[in-house]
Amino acid sequence: MNSYFHYQQDQLYVEQVALADIAAKYGTPCYVYSRAALTDAYRQFADALKSREHLICFAVKSNSNLAILNLFARLGAGFDIVSGGELQRVLAAGGEANKVVFSGVGKTEAEMRLALDAGILCFNVESAAELDRLNEVAGRMGKVAAISFRVNPDVDAKTHPYISTGLKNNKFGVAYTEALALYRKAAGMAHLRVTGMDCHIGSQLTEVSPFIAAAEKVLALVDQLAGEGIKLEHLDLGGGLGIRYDDETPPSIAAYAQALLGALQGRAEKLIVEPGRVLVGNAGVLLTRVEYLKPGEEKHFAIVDAAMNDLMRPALYDAYHAIVPLTRPSPQSSDETTSHSTKHDKAVQVAGYPTSGGGGKRENQSLIFEVVGPICETGDFLGHAREMALQQGSLLALMSAGAYGMSMSSNYNTRPRAAEIMVDGDELHLIRERETVQQLFAGEKIIG
Ligand code: LLP
Repeated sequence: MNSYFHYQQDQLYVEQVALADIAAKYGTPCYVYSRAALTDAYRQFADALKSREHLICFAVKSNSNLAILNLFARLGAGFDIVSGGELQRVLAAGGEANKVVFSGVGKTEAEMRLALDAGILCFNVESAAELDRLNEVAGRMGKVAAISFRVNPDVDAKTHPYISTGLKNNKFGVAYTEALALYRKAAGMAHLRVTGMDCHIGSQLTEVSPFIAAAEKVLALVDQLAGEGIKLEHLDLGGGLGIRYDDETPPSIAAYAQALLGALQGRAEKLIVEPGRVLVGNAGVLLTRVEYLKPGEEKHFAIVDAAMNDLMRPALYDAYHAIVPLTRPSPQSSDETTSHSTKHDKAVQVAGYPTSGGGGKRENQSLIFEVVGPICETGDFLGHAREMALQQGSLLALMSAGAYGMSMSSNYNTRPRAAEIMVDGDELHLIRERETVQQLFAGEKIIG
Protein backbone atom coordinates (compact mmCIF):
# COMPACT_ATOMS: atom_id res chain seq x y z
CA MET A 1 0.00 0.00 0.00
CA ASN A 2 1.34 3.43 -0.78
CA SER A 3 0.60 6.69 0.95
CA TYR A 4 -2.34 7.38 -1.38
CA PHE A 5 -4.20 4.30 -0.13
CA HIS A 6 -4.13 4.15 3.65
CA TYR A 7 -6.21 3.22 6.68
CA GLN A 8 -7.67 5.98 8.77
CA GLN A 9 -9.59 4.81 11.83
CA ASP A 10 -9.86 1.35 10.33
CA GLN A 11 -11.37 2.66 7.09
CA LEU A 12 -9.41 2.32 3.87
CA TYR A 13 -9.03 5.71 2.25
CA VAL A 14 -7.85 6.90 -1.11
CA GLU A 15 -6.45 10.38 -0.63
CA GLN A 16 -9.15 12.04 1.52
CA VAL A 17 -12.07 9.81 0.61
CA ALA A 18 -13.18 6.59 2.31
CA LEU A 19 -13.40 3.86 -0.33
CA ALA A 20 -16.56 2.54 1.35
CA ASP A 21 -18.24 5.86 0.52
CA ILE A 22 -17.29 5.42 -3.12
CA ALA A 23 -18.70 1.89 -3.14
CA ALA A 24 -21.93 3.20 -1.58
CA LYS A 25 -22.23 6.01 -4.12
CA TYR A 26 -21.26 4.24 -7.34
CA GLY A 27 -21.81 0.58 -6.52
CA THR A 28 -19.43 -2.32 -7.03
CA PRO A 29 -17.43 -3.54 -8.84
CA CYS A 30 -15.68 -0.26 -9.59
CA TYR A 31 -12.16 0.90 -10.29
CA VAL A 32 -10.88 3.82 -8.24
CA TYR A 33 -7.78 5.83 -9.09
CA SER A 34 -5.82 8.41 -7.18
CA ARG A 35 -4.98 11.49 -9.21
CA ALA A 36 -2.13 12.31 -6.83
CA ALA A 37 -0.61 8.83 -7.21
CA LEU A 38 -0.77 9.07 -11.02
CA THR A 39 0.78 12.53 -10.99
CA ASP A 40 3.44 11.52 -8.51
CA ALA A 41 4.54 8.50 -10.57
CA TYR A 42 4.74 10.58 -13.74
CA ARG A 43 6.70 13.34 -12.01
CA GLN A 44 9.16 10.85 -10.54
CA PHE A 45 9.86 9.65 -14.07
CA ALA A 46 10.16 13.10 -15.57
CA ASP A 47 12.41 14.29 -12.74
CA ALA A 48 14.67 11.28 -13.02
CA LEU A 49 15.18 11.91 -16.74
CA LYS A 50 15.37 15.69 -16.69
CA SER A 51 19.11 15.82 -17.31
CA ARG A 52 18.63 14.78 -20.92
CA GLU A 53 16.18 15.37 -23.73
CA HIS A 54 13.46 12.77 -23.34
CA LEU A 55 9.86 11.87 -24.04
CA ILE A 56 7.77 9.68 -21.75
CA CYS A 57 5.29 7.85 -23.96
CA PHE A 58 2.67 6.36 -21.66
CA ALA A 59 1.71 2.84 -22.83
CA VAL A 60 -1.98 3.38 -23.50
CA LYS A 61 -2.77 -0.33 -23.32
CA SER A 62 -2.12 -0.36 -19.58
CA ASN A 63 -4.99 2.02 -18.89
CA SER A 64 -6.76 3.84 -21.67
CA ASN A 65 -9.41 5.84 -19.82
CA LEU A 66 -9.65 9.32 -21.37
CA ALA A 67 -9.30 11.07 -18.01
CA ILE A 68 -6.04 9.27 -17.33
CA LEU A 69 -4.69 9.96 -20.82
CA ASN A 70 -5.70 13.59 -20.43
CA LEU A 71 -3.97 13.86 -17.07
CA PHE A 72 -0.72 12.50 -18.51
CA ALA A 73 -1.04 14.69 -21.62
CA ARG A 74 -1.31 17.74 -19.38
CA LEU A 75 1.81 16.63 -17.52
CA GLY A 76 3.65 16.60 -20.85
CA ALA A 77 3.49 12.91 -21.76
CA GLY A 78 3.54 11.37 -25.17
CA PHE A 79 1.90 8.03 -25.84
CA ASP A 80 2.81 4.55 -27.02
CA ILE A 81 -0.11 3.12 -28.97
CA VAL A 82 -0.73 -0.27 -30.55
CA SER A 83 -3.92 0.35 -32.53
CA GLY A 84 -5.89 2.95 -34.40
CA GLY A 85 -8.39 2.83 -31.56
CA GLU A 86 -5.74 3.85 -29.05
CA LEU A 87 -4.69 6.71 -31.32
CA GLN A 88 -8.27 7.97 -31.42
CA ARG A 89 -8.43 7.78 -27.63
CA VAL A 90 -5.21 9.79 -27.31
CA LEU A 91 -6.51 12.48 -29.67
CA ALA A 92 -9.91 12.56 -27.95
CA ALA A 93 -8.13 12.99 -24.62
CA GLY A 94 -6.13 15.99 -25.84
CA GLY A 95 -2.86 14.17 -26.50
CA GLU A 96 -0.55 15.52 -29.18
CA ALA A 97 -0.11 13.35 -32.27
CA ASN A 98 3.50 14.43 -32.69
CA LYS A 99 4.31 12.80 -29.35
CA VAL A 100 2.87 9.40 -30.33
CA VAL A 101 4.87 6.29 -31.18
CA PHE A 102 3.01 3.42 -32.82
CA SER A 103 4.11 -0.10 -31.83
CA GLY A 104 2.60 -3.48 -32.68
CA VAL A 105 3.20 -6.37 -35.06
CA GLY A 106 -0.02 -6.13 -37.06
CA LYS A 107 -0.67 -2.55 -38.13
CA THR A 108 -3.38 -2.46 -40.79
CA GLU A 109 -3.43 -0.11 -43.77
CA ALA A 110 -6.32 1.78 -42.22
CA GLU A 111 -4.37 2.25 -38.99
CA MET A 112 -1.33 3.47 -40.92
CA ARG A 113 -3.45 6.00 -42.80
CA LEU A 114 -5.02 7.25 -39.58
CA ALA A 115 -1.61 7.69 -37.96
CA LEU A 116 -0.12 9.40 -41.05
CA ASP A 117 -3.07 11.75 -41.24
CA ALA A 118 -2.73 12.62 -37.57
CA GLY A 119 1.02 13.18 -37.97
CA ILE A 120 2.45 10.84 -35.34
CA LEU A 121 6.07 11.03 -34.21
CA CYS A 122 7.19 7.57 -35.28
CA PHE A 123 6.12 4.12 -36.42
CA ASN A 124 7.95 1.36 -34.54
CA VAL A 125 8.18 -1.10 -37.42
CA GLU A 126 8.22 -4.77 -36.46
CA SER A 127 8.81 -6.64 -39.75
CA ALA A 128 10.10 -6.32 -43.31
CA ALA A 129 6.59 -6.79 -44.66
CA GLU A 130 5.29 -3.95 -42.52
CA LEU A 131 8.10 -1.72 -43.82
CA ASP A 132 7.02 -2.33 -47.42
CA ARG A 133 3.38 -1.70 -46.62
CA LEU A 134 4.10 1.52 -44.75
CA ASN A 135 6.24 2.84 -47.62
CA GLU A 136 3.41 2.12 -50.07
CA VAL A 137 0.67 3.63 -47.91
CA ALA A 138 2.70 6.77 -47.21
CA GLY A 139 3.55 7.05 -50.90
CA ARG A 140 -0.10 6.87 -51.92
CA MET A 141 -0.91 9.60 -49.41
CA GLY A 142 1.97 11.79 -50.57
CA LYS A 143 3.53 11.63 -47.09
CA VAL A 144 6.78 10.54 -45.53
CA ALA A 145 6.53 8.22 -42.51
CA ALA A 146 9.09 8.53 -39.72
CA ILE A 147 10.19 5.08 -38.65
CA SER A 148 12.27 3.16 -36.18
CA PHE A 149 12.66 -0.59 -36.11
CA ARG A 150 11.72 -2.43 -33.00
CA VAL A 151 14.83 -4.54 -32.64
CA ASN A 152 14.57 -7.78 -30.76
CA PRO A 153 17.76 -7.84 -28.70
CA ASP A 154 17.37 -11.49 -27.63
CA VAL A 155 17.63 -10.70 -23.94
CA ASP A 156 15.86 -12.65 -21.23
CA ALA A 157 13.58 -10.29 -19.31
CA LYS A 158 13.17 -12.90 -16.55
CA THR A 159 9.47 -12.26 -16.23
CA HIS A 160 6.28 -14.26 -16.87
CA PRO A 161 6.58 -15.99 -20.28
CA TYR A 162 3.31 -14.41 -21.50
CA ILE A 163 4.70 -10.91 -21.01
CA SER A 164 8.29 -11.50 -22.06
CA THR A 165 8.84 -10.07 -25.51
CA GLY A 166 12.55 -9.67 -26.17
CA LEU A 167 13.65 -13.25 -26.82
CA LYS A 168 14.27 -14.31 -30.39
CA ASN A 169 11.45 -16.84 -30.34
CA ASN A 170 8.89 -14.10 -29.56
CA LYS A 171 6.74 -12.65 -32.33
CA PHE A 172 7.92 -9.11 -31.57
CA GLY A 173 10.39 -6.91 -33.39
CA VAL A 174 12.89 -7.64 -36.12
CA ALA A 175 15.72 -10.09 -35.49
CA TYR A 176 18.88 -8.52 -34.17
CA THR A 177 20.87 -10.11 -36.94
CA GLU A 178 18.60 -8.67 -39.65
CA ALA A 179 18.30 -5.17 -38.26
CA LEU A 180 21.24 -3.57 -40.08
CA ALA A 181 20.13 -4.84 -43.47
CA LEU A 182 16.61 -3.57 -42.82
CA TYR A 183 17.88 -0.13 -41.82
CA ARG A 184 19.94 0.07 -45.00
CA LYS A 185 16.89 -0.86 -47.04
CA ALA A 186 14.63 1.61 -45.23
CA ALA A 187 17.15 4.43 -45.66
CA GLY A 188 16.72 4.07 -49.40
CA MET A 189 12.92 4.02 -49.45
CA ALA A 190 11.23 7.08 -50.90
CA HIS A 191 8.37 7.53 -48.46
CA LEU A 192 10.13 6.70 -45.22
CA ARG A 193 12.47 8.63 -42.99
CA VAL A 194 14.59 6.64 -40.57
CA THR A 195 14.59 8.48 -37.24
CA GLY A 196 15.14 6.02 -34.41
CA MET A 197 15.66 2.60 -32.94
CA ASP A 198 13.37 0.87 -30.49
CA CYS A 199 13.29 -2.11 -28.19
CA HIS A 200 10.90 -3.42 -25.56
CA ILE A 201 11.83 -6.67 -23.87
CA GLY A 202 8.91 -7.40 -21.60
CA SER A 203 6.77 -6.25 -18.74
CA GLN A 204 6.88 -6.40 -14.93
CA LEU A 205 10.67 -6.60 -14.89
CA THR A 206 12.05 -6.48 -11.38
CA GLU A 207 15.72 -6.09 -12.22
CA VAL A 208 17.63 -3.42 -14.08
CA SER A 209 20.19 -5.70 -15.71
CA PRO A 210 18.06 -6.96 -18.65
CA PHE A 211 17.18 -3.36 -19.58
CA ILE A 212 20.85 -2.45 -19.66
CA ALA A 213 21.83 -5.57 -21.58
CA ALA A 214 19.17 -4.72 -24.19
CA ALA A 215 20.22 -1.06 -24.36
CA GLU A 216 23.85 -2.02 -24.91
CA LYS A 217 22.98 -4.39 -27.72
CA VAL A 218 20.81 -1.81 -29.40
CA LEU A 219 23.44 0.92 -29.00
CA ALA A 220 26.01 -1.24 -30.76
CA LEU A 221 23.70 -1.28 -33.79
CA VAL A 222 23.14 2.47 -33.57
CA ASP A 223 26.92 2.98 -33.73
CA GLN A 224 27.30 0.69 -36.69
CA LEU A 225 24.58 2.59 -38.54
CA ALA A 226 26.21 5.92 -37.73
CA GLY A 227 29.41 4.55 -39.21
CA GLU A 228 27.51 3.95 -42.44
CA GLY A 229 26.08 7.46 -42.42
CA ILE A 230 22.62 6.54 -41.06
CA LYS A 231 22.26 8.85 -38.07
CA LEU A 232 19.37 8.31 -35.66
CA GLU A 233 17.58 11.05 -33.75
CA HIS A 234 16.07 9.01 -30.96
CA LEU A 235 16.43 5.83 -28.99
CA ASP A 236 13.28 4.24 -27.61
CA LEU A 237 14.02 1.83 -24.78
CA GLY A 238 10.42 0.70 -24.31
CA GLY A 239 8.60 0.17 -21.04
CA GLY A 240 8.53 -2.76 -18.68
CA LEU A 241 9.54 -1.55 -15.24
CA GLY A 242 7.75 -3.68 -12.66
CA ILE A 243 5.81 -2.74 -9.55
CA ARG A 244 5.28 -4.35 -6.19
CA TYR A 245 2.19 -6.54 -6.07
CA ASP A 246 3.36 -8.90 -3.35
CA ASP A 247 6.96 -9.38 -2.31
CA GLU A 248 8.69 -8.18 -5.47
CA THR A 249 11.47 -5.66 -5.05
CA PRO A 250 11.63 -3.79 -8.36
CA PRO A 251 14.10 -0.96 -8.73
CA SER A 252 12.69 2.49 -8.03
CA ILE A 253 11.83 4.72 -10.99
CA ALA A 254 14.88 6.82 -10.09
CA ALA A 255 17.23 3.82 -10.00
CA TYR A 256 15.88 2.51 -13.30
CA ALA A 257 16.19 5.92 -14.95
CA GLN A 258 19.68 6.36 -13.57
CA ALA A 259 20.73 3.04 -15.08
CA LEU A 260 19.30 4.01 -18.50
CA LEU A 261 21.02 7.38 -18.36
CA GLY A 262 24.27 5.63 -17.49
CA ALA A 263 23.99 3.39 -20.53
CA LEU A 264 23.37 6.43 -22.74
CA GLN A 265 26.12 8.62 -21.33
CA GLY A 266 27.78 10.86 -23.87
CA ARG A 267 25.23 10.17 -26.60
CA ALA A 268 23.19 12.80 -28.35
CA GLU A 269 20.05 10.87 -29.28
CA LYS A 270 16.80 11.84 -27.61
CA LEU A 271 15.59 9.16 -25.17
CA ILE A 272 12.06 7.81 -25.46
CA VAL A 273 10.56 5.44 -22.88
CA GLU A 274 7.19 3.68 -22.95
CA PRO A 275 6.19 2.99 -19.34
CA GLY A 276 2.72 1.73 -18.58
CA ARG A 277 2.34 -0.31 -15.42
CA VAL A 278 4.71 1.71 -13.27
CA LEU A 279 2.72 4.90 -13.89
CA VAL A 280 -0.74 3.51 -13.16
CA GLY A 281 -0.49 0.09 -11.48
CA ASN A 282 -0.34 1.18 -7.88
CA ALA A 283 -2.56 4.22 -8.46
CA GLY A 284 -5.72 2.14 -8.83
CA VAL A 285 -7.79 -0.44 -6.96
CA LEU A 286 -10.83 -2.52 -7.81
CA LEU A 287 -13.61 -2.45 -5.23
CA THR A 288 -15.85 -5.46 -4.80
CA ARG A 289 -18.49 -6.72 -2.40
CA VAL A 290 -18.91 -10.20 -0.96
CA GLU A 291 -22.15 -11.65 -2.30
CA TYR A 292 -22.00 -15.00 -0.55
CA LEU A 293 -19.81 -17.02 1.74
CA LYS A 294 -19.77 -20.66 0.84
CA PRO A 295 -18.14 -22.97 3.33
CA GLY A 296 -16.57 -26.06 1.87
CA GLU A 297 -15.00 -29.18 3.30
CA GLU A 298 -11.55 -28.22 2.15
CA LYS A 299 -11.90 -24.62 1.14
CA HIS A 300 -14.12 -21.72 1.98
CA PHE A 301 -15.25 -19.59 -0.91
CA ALA A 302 -15.93 -15.89 -0.81
CA ILE A 303 -18.00 -15.18 -3.88
CA VAL A 304 -17.60 -11.53 -4.77
CA ASP A 305 -19.28 -9.33 -7.36
CA ALA A 306 -16.09 -8.71 -9.36
CA ALA A 307 -14.83 -11.43 -11.66
CA MET A 308 -12.26 -12.40 -14.24
CA ASN A 309 -14.03 -10.20 -16.77
CA ASP A 310 -13.27 -7.18 -14.56
CA LEU A 311 -9.72 -8.16 -13.61
CA MET A 312 -8.29 -10.85 -15.82
CA ARG A 313 -4.73 -10.94 -14.50
CA PRO A 314 -5.20 -13.66 -11.86
CA ALA A 315 -6.97 -15.98 -14.32
CA LEU A 316 -4.62 -15.29 -17.20
CA TYR A 317 -1.22 -15.11 -15.51
CA ASP A 318 -1.94 -16.50 -12.07
CA ALA A 319 -1.08 -12.96 -11.00
CA TYR A 320 -1.24 -11.96 -7.35
CA HIS A 321 -3.24 -8.96 -6.20
CA ALA A 322 -3.43 -8.20 -2.50
CA ILE A 323 -7.03 -8.21 -1.23
CA VAL A 324 -7.80 -6.05 1.77
CA PRO A 325 -11.01 -5.12 3.60
CA LEU A 326 -12.34 -1.59 3.34
CA THR A 327 -13.16 -1.79 7.03
CA ARG A 328 -10.39 -3.25 9.09
CA PRO A 329 -11.44 -5.37 12.06
CA SER A 330 -10.98 -3.37 15.24
CA PRO A 331 -7.77 -4.09 17.14
CA GLN A 332 -9.59 -5.49 20.23
CA SER A 333 -11.08 -8.28 18.20
CA SER A 334 -7.81 -9.16 16.55
CA ASP A 335 -5.91 -9.88 19.80
CA GLU A 336 -6.90 -13.48 19.79
CA THR A 337 -5.90 -15.46 16.79
CA THR A 338 -7.69 -18.38 15.30
CA SER A 339 -6.17 -21.70 14.45
CA HIS A 340 -5.38 -20.30 11.02
CA SER A 341 -2.15 -18.40 11.24
CA THR A 342 -1.40 -15.59 8.84
CA LYS A 343 1.04 -17.68 6.89
CA HIS A 344 -1.34 -17.99 3.99
CA ASP A 345 -2.12 -14.32 3.97
CA LYS A 346 0.68 -13.04 1.82
CA ALA A 347 -0.68 -9.53 1.94
CA VAL A 348 -0.25 -9.40 5.68
CA GLN A 349 3.12 -11.04 5.81
CA VAL A 350 4.95 -9.77 2.87
CA ALA A 351 3.63 -6.65 1.27
CA GLY A 352 3.11 -4.97 4.60
CA TYR A 353 -0.65 -4.76 4.30
CA PRO A 354 -2.41 -4.38 7.59
CA THR A 355 -3.93 -7.50 8.98
CA SER A 356 -7.32 -8.19 7.55
CA GLY A 357 -8.52 -10.54 10.21
CA GLY A 358 -7.40 -12.66 13.07
CA GLY A 359 -10.46 -11.80 15.10
CA GLY A 360 -11.36 -14.09 17.97
CA LYS A 361 -15.00 -13.09 18.05
CA ARG A 362 -17.25 -15.51 16.27
CA GLU A 363 -18.60 -12.95 13.78
CA ASN A 364 -15.14 -11.62 13.15
CA GLN A 365 -13.50 -14.94 12.75
CA SER A 366 -10.73 -15.00 10.25
CA LEU A 367 -10.76 -17.88 7.79
CA ILE A 368 -8.85 -18.79 4.70
CA PHE A 369 -10.84 -18.02 1.59
CA GLU A 370 -10.68 -18.59 -2.10
CA VAL A 371 -11.87 -15.26 -3.45
CA VAL A 372 -13.83 -16.01 -6.60
CA GLY A 373 -16.20 -14.29 -9.00
CA PRO A 374 -19.61 -15.41 -10.25
CA ILE A 375 -18.40 -16.44 -13.73
CA CYS A 376 -18.88 -20.03 -14.83
CA GLU A 377 -15.20 -20.93 -15.07
CA THR A 378 -12.97 -22.54 -12.49
CA GLY A 379 -10.34 -20.04 -13.61
CA ASP A 380 -12.54 -17.23 -12.34
CA PHE A 381 -10.63 -16.46 -9.17
CA LEU A 382 -9.19 -13.24 -7.83
CA GLY A 383 -7.13 -14.63 -4.99
CA HIS A 384 -6.19 -17.97 -3.47
CA ALA A 385 -5.91 -18.78 0.21
CA ARG A 386 -6.50 -15.33 1.64
CA GLU A 387 -7.04 -15.10 5.35
CA MET A 388 -9.74 -12.62 6.20
CA ALA A 389 -12.69 -12.08 8.47
CA LEU A 390 -15.55 -11.80 6.00
CA GLN A 391 -19.30 -11.57 6.07
CA GLN A 392 -21.88 -11.33 3.37
CA GLY A 393 -21.76 -7.72 2.18
CA SER A 394 -18.14 -7.11 3.25
CA LEU A 395 -16.35 -4.69 0.96
CA LEU A 396 -12.90 -5.49 -0.36
CA ALA A 397 -10.23 -3.75 -2.42
CA LEU A 398 -8.08 -5.57 -4.93
CA MET A 399 -4.89 -3.61 -4.76
CA SER A 400 -2.49 -2.62 -7.55
CA ALA A 401 -5.24 -2.91 -10.14
CA GLY A 402 -4.60 0.33 -12.04
CA ALA A 403 -2.63 -1.29 -14.88
CA TYR A 404 -4.05 -3.92 -17.22
CA GLY A 405 -7.21 -4.08 -15.11
CA MET A 406 -9.97 -2.10 -16.77
CA SER A 407 -8.14 -2.07 -20.10
CA MET A 408 -8.25 -5.88 -20.29
CA SER A 409 -11.80 -6.22 -19.03
CA SER A 410 -14.51 -7.89 -21.09
CA ASN A 411 -18.23 -8.51 -21.14
CA TYR A 412 -18.02 -12.27 -20.65
CA ASN A 413 -21.22 -13.65 -19.13
CA THR A 414 -22.93 -10.44 -20.34
CA ARG A 415 -21.47 -8.52 -17.46
CA PRO A 416 -21.45 -4.76 -18.00
CA ARG A 417 -18.02 -3.33 -17.42
CA ALA A 418 -17.30 -1.60 -14.14
CA ALA A 419 -17.50 2.12 -13.42
CA GLU A 420 -14.27 4.06 -13.00
CA ILE A 421 -13.80 6.85 -10.50
CA MET A 422 -10.91 9.28 -10.09
CA VAL A 423 -10.30 10.77 -6.68
CA ASP A 424 -8.61 14.13 -6.40
CA GLY A 425 -8.12 15.17 -2.78
CA ASP A 426 -11.64 15.09 -1.39
CA GLU A 427 -13.32 15.24 -4.80
CA LEU A 428 -14.83 12.33 -6.70
CA HIS A 429 -15.07 12.22 -10.48
CA LEU A 430 -16.93 9.52 -12.33
CA ILE A 431 -14.59 9.01 -15.29
CA ARG A 432 -16.47 6.13 -16.84
CA GLU A 433 -20.05 5.20 -16.22
CA ARG A 434 -20.94 1.63 -15.49
CA GLU A 435 -22.04 0.00 -18.72
CA THR A 436 -25.67 -0.96 -19.13
CA VAL A 437 -26.85 -4.31 -20.44
CA GLN A 438 -28.68 -2.46 -23.26
CA GLN A 439 -25.33 -1.08 -24.46
CA LEU A 440 -23.97 -4.59 -24.60
CA PHE A 441 -26.42 -5.87 -27.17
CA ALA A 442 -27.24 -2.61 -28.91
CA GLY A 443 -25.37 -3.66 -32.08
CA GLU A 444 -26.90 -7.13 -32.30
CA LYS A 445 -29.77 -8.18 -34.58
CA ILE A 446 -32.22 -11.04 -34.60
CA ILE A 447 -32.67 -12.47 -38.11
CA GLY A 448 -36.05 -13.21 -39.63
N1 LLP B 1 5.80 -0.79 -25.01
C1 LLP B 1 5.42 -1.90 -25.65
C2 LLP B 1 5.78 -2.05 -27.06
C3 LLP B 1 4.67 -2.88 -24.98
O1 LLP B 1 4.32 -3.98 -25.63
C4 LLP B 1 4.32 -2.70 -23.62
C5 LLP B 1 3.54 -3.70 -22.90
C6 LLP B 1 4.73 -1.51 -22.99
C7 LLP B 1 5.47 -0.58 -23.71
C8 LLP B 1 4.40 -1.19 -21.56
O2 LLP B 1 4.94 -2.09 -20.66
P1 LLP B 1 4.82 -1.84 -19.09
O3 LLP B 1 5.65 -0.62 -18.74
O4 LLP B 1 3.40 -1.63 -18.76
O5 LLP B 1 5.37 -3.08 -18.50
N2 LLP B 1 -1.28 -7.62 -19.65
C9 LLP B 1 0.00 -7.86 -19.01
C10 LLP B 1 1.06 -6.91 -19.48
C11 LLP B 1 1.26 -6.92 -20.97
C12 LLP B 1 2.28 -5.92 -21.44
C13 LLP B 1 2.30 -5.80 -22.91
N3 LLP B 1 3.18 -4.80 -23.41
C14 LLP B 1 -0.20 -7.82 -17.51
O6 LLP B 1 -1.32 -7.61 -17.05
O7 LLP B 1 0.74 -8.03 -16.75
